[in-house]
Parts: sequence; structure tokens; C-alpha cells
Amino acid sequence: MFQAQNLKKRFGAVQAVDGVSFAIQAGETVGLLGPNGAGKTTIVSMIAGLLTPDSGEIRLEGRAIASDTDPVKRAIGFVPQDLALFEKLGGRENLALFGALYGLKGAELDRAVDMALGLVGLADRQKDAVEAYSGGMKRRLNLAAALLHDPKLLILDEPTVGVDPQSRNAIFDNLEALKQRGLTLIYTTHYMEEAERLCDRLVIVDHGRVLKDGTLQSLYAELPAANLLEVEIEGDGAPLCEGLRCVAGVASAELRAGRLAVGVDNLAMGSAAVLAWLAARGVPVLHLASERATLEAVFLNLTGRSLRDA
Ligand SMILES: Nc1ncnc2c1ncn2[C@@H]1O[C@H](COP(=O)(O)OP(=O)(O)OP(=O)(O)O)[C@@H](O)[C@H]1O
Ligand SMILES: [Mg+2]
Repeated sequence: MFQAQNLKKRFGAVQAVDGVSFAIQAGETVGLLGPNGAGKTTIVSMIAGLLTPDSGEIRLEGRAIASDTDPVKRAIGFVPQDLALFEKLGGRENLALFGALYGLKGAELDRAVDMALGLVGLADRQKDAVEAYSGGMKRRLNLAAALLHDPKLLILDEPTVGVDPQSRNAIFDNLEALKQRGLTLIYTTHYMEEAERLCDRLVIVDHGRVLKDGTLQSLYAELPAANLLEVEIEGDGAPLCEGLRCVAGVASAELRAGRLAVGVDNLAMGSAAVLAWLAARGVPVLHLASERATLEAVFLNLTGRSLRDA
């Protein structure tokens, strides 16, 4: 239902988006995952029509989105990274204003506002001025504002940044409910746990380019191993890595932050083999931990950098 084709955008010397293409099926939730400055906001701003691409094309349900006044654009709802609310006005008044901008009025506007307030769980606070809302409540109202005109494609730009855990869960419940209703979602984040929980597919971006596009399973399948053992031993682990790589069931072995990082697909057999190998060489093991494949590992594998510190 959606296609972005070779999108590019430059700001002065910075090529913020450098030939990004991806497509989305109706009802799919696609995560745009990447570190700070990767180009996520620039990409979704072009999709929402807030920025004009230098080149490239955006198609919604087969039709190119041409201009700001294009009716196709009405099928898109955008929840910006920065809050866009009137602090002095009440929650309901804010929504009424946004609804009016979409051309809703009278009973239709009232219905849309009621629906959106109910969805984000703010009906009981609708009369309070937004300046009295918590950060999480403001985020939820920001989300409600994007739902008033009943969009088919909802774009959310880092909707949980600066949000307390309770509101974060509330936002996730809202999004899962919207997903259930068949809404198509684009979700930008640099939180891997969020992407893992919500997204059917991930488009990993870095330096304005798509590094990888696939389902969680397909991204994990490209990792050297499904599990990573972290083994803390007494003494220097570096000379052991080569030998460990030859142990049956071991996919990779390297020294990471002074510990042995050993990739194994089968956790039970792999860890048993690694421990037996170390014991046979008289190497004292001080600590053993294991970690399932994560998006963090996927990003590290793709870029050699961590998503958190990138
Ligand atoms: N209006 C602008 N003027 C100049 N440079 C910009 C502008 N908007 C974005 N950039 C630059 O483009 C690059 C991509 O920025 P963008 O905001 O799209 O990244 P992002 O992935 O959304 O990052 P974050 O996770 O921090 O929100 C950055 O180098 C940024 O400094
Ligand atoms: Mg951003």
C-alpha cells in the first residue's frame, strides 16, 4: 500500500537521506530503526509531506503523493517527534482545533474527538489544560491528534522518548489496538526493545541509507549464532579464541571487553561443549552468562558499532 523510491534529502553539507527505498503492505507495522542522526525524522517528514525530497518518489495505494494539497495525503497521520500542542488549551480543545484543520466540523468532529480521546485513555482529563498534563499524557494527546481524520497510514516518530514507563505501556497498548484494527504503521525508534515488541518488519537505517530490511526472524537468521555466551575466565582469553572456534557447535569466538564472547546456536549443547573444553584445559571460569540474539547484535553485526553508542 506504500512505497518510497530512492528518496534523497540534503541539508547544506549533510546528505541526511541518501537513496532510501522501502515498501509496506497494508496492515503491516514497519519499524525504522537507527541511531541518532541516521535520517529517520527526515525520511518520515518527507513521507508526511512536511519536507520536499530532493529526488525520489512516494506512492500511497499506487498513487504518487504530489503536493501539499494532495488528497492522497489525507490518508496519512503523522505523530511528530516534537510535541505540537497548545499548552494553555484543554485536551479536547486541542483535538477540536486539529480536527478543524482536517476539515471536520459539527457532530462529525465531536465523534472523531471522542473516539481519539477514548483510544488514548484521556477522556477523563479532556477538560484540563495541556500544561497540567504529564509528559506521557502529552505524548498520548499528540497521538490522538494524528488519528482524528481516520488515516490509513499512521507514522510515529519516536513516540516514547521522555515518557515514563506507565505511559509508555499505555502508548504501546494504544498502538497494539490500532494494529488490531488493521492500521498500517511506520514507527521510528532507536529503542530495540520497542522495535522487537511492535514491528512486523524492520528497516535499519544508518547515515541516510537502508542497511537492512526484513522481518525480525530473517534479521536474526543472518547473525553468526542465535545465542551469545559471555564467559569470564581467569587470565588472558585471547589465545583461547582460535581453539574455541574449532569446538563443535561454536559459530564464533572473540574477546569482547575482556570476556570471551562465544556464539552458539544450540544453547544447551554449545555451552556444555565450551565449558568442557575450558575445563579440560584447566581454565578457571569465573562467570557465565548467555544472551539471545537481539537487534543490538544485528546492528553490531551490520556496522561494527553499537546502536546505543553509535
Ligand atoms: N533542518 C535541518 N537542517 C540541517 N540539518 C538537518 C536538518 N534536519 C536534519 N538535519 C541533519 O540530517 C541528519 C539526519 O537527521 P534526522 O533528524 O533525520 O535523524 P534521526 O535519525 O531522526 O535522529 P534522532 O534519532 O536523533 O531523532 C543529521 O545529521 C541532522 O543533523
Ligand atoms: Mg529523529
